[in-house]
Amino acid sequence: MNPGAELKYPFDAETSGLWPITPPPRDSLHGPILYVEDVSVSFDGFRALNRLSLYIDDGELRCIIGPNGAGKTTMMDVITGKTRPDTGTVFFGPTIDLLKLDEPAIAEAGICRKFQKPSVFEKLSVFENLELAMRTDKRVWPTLFARLTGAQRDRIDEVLATIGLAEQSGFRAGALSHGQKQWLEIGMLLMQDPKVLLVDEPVAGMTHQELERTAELLLALEGKHSVVVVEHDMEFVRSIARKVTVLHEGSVLTEGSMDEVQNDPRVIQVYLGD
Ligand SMILES: Nc1ncnc2c1ncn2[C@@H]1O[C@H](COP(=O)(O)OP(=O)(O)OP(=O)(O)O)[C@@H](O)[C@H]1O
Ligand SMILES: [Mg+2]
Repeated sequence: MNPGAELKYPFDAETSGLWPITPPPRDSLHGPILYVEDVSVSFDGFRALNRLSLYIDDGELRCIIGPNGAGKTTMMDVITGKTRPDTGTVFFGPTIDLLKLDEPAIAEAGICRKFQKPSVFEKLSVFENLELAMRTDKRVWPTLFARLTGAQRDRIDEVLATIGLAEQSGFRAGALSHGQKQWLEIGMLLMQDPKVLLVDEPVAGMTHQELERTAELLLALEGKHSVVVVEHDMEFVRSIARKVTVLHEGSVLTEGSMDEVQNDPRVIQVYLGD
């Protein structure tokens, strides 16, 4: 699996199979924060997720890789309530059954997702974008005329530092580079202090320098939030990798360190074909 390796599809169906994961306890002291168990999703008879099971720990930074069509985005759709699975269970902590909640309720519970296209308010400043993201009243005018408390201001400053945009605080968001807009978008999610942050292909279209900054940013979130990163750019994945999960044909092919998965013959076969 070279960083520049071309991804091919379809892959050998023989290589797919259920990764033998022992379900961890569903308890708040020792258990993970996110439990995806035996989840299947079909679209017109095509199984996008096939008995997928995976577990994310509190504060963990997890990378998910896999060829095109492996089911990575569908997995995020299931966790965030956009897609309902045909079978399986999805729990947030030991007691919150995510399949009983709709999309806004899941976000409210603390699972946020960053979409590829930034949805920043171009005409507002970087600071104002963060301010707006913090407010429960999302209307622009009441927000911009309400007073910030000292604690709220501190929180915005803290997030500005995390996303590396402290110097651009007063800039119009529309004037930011593509990479900076992506960081602002992450900052807007951080304002809601999510427990879990899901990021799908964060470095697509970024320059090398922006890619390195994004790696630093995601690493800085480790321990404070659980961050699940889906990405094709292997150089980027290597730079942030802790535990890496490889998805293939809707299930987990293997999990391990970057070196372990990169040297796994099944992973190599799935990426390179025969
Ligand atoms: N709404 C849908 N309707 C029909 N098929 C879908 C739908 N969403 C996804 N699929 C199919 O399910 C499979 C998994 O798609 P998914 O987008 O989850 O893959 P992915 O791993 O995110 O791929 P990529 O790396 O290309 O983003 C693909 O074959 C895709 O065509
Ligand atoms: Mg995808």
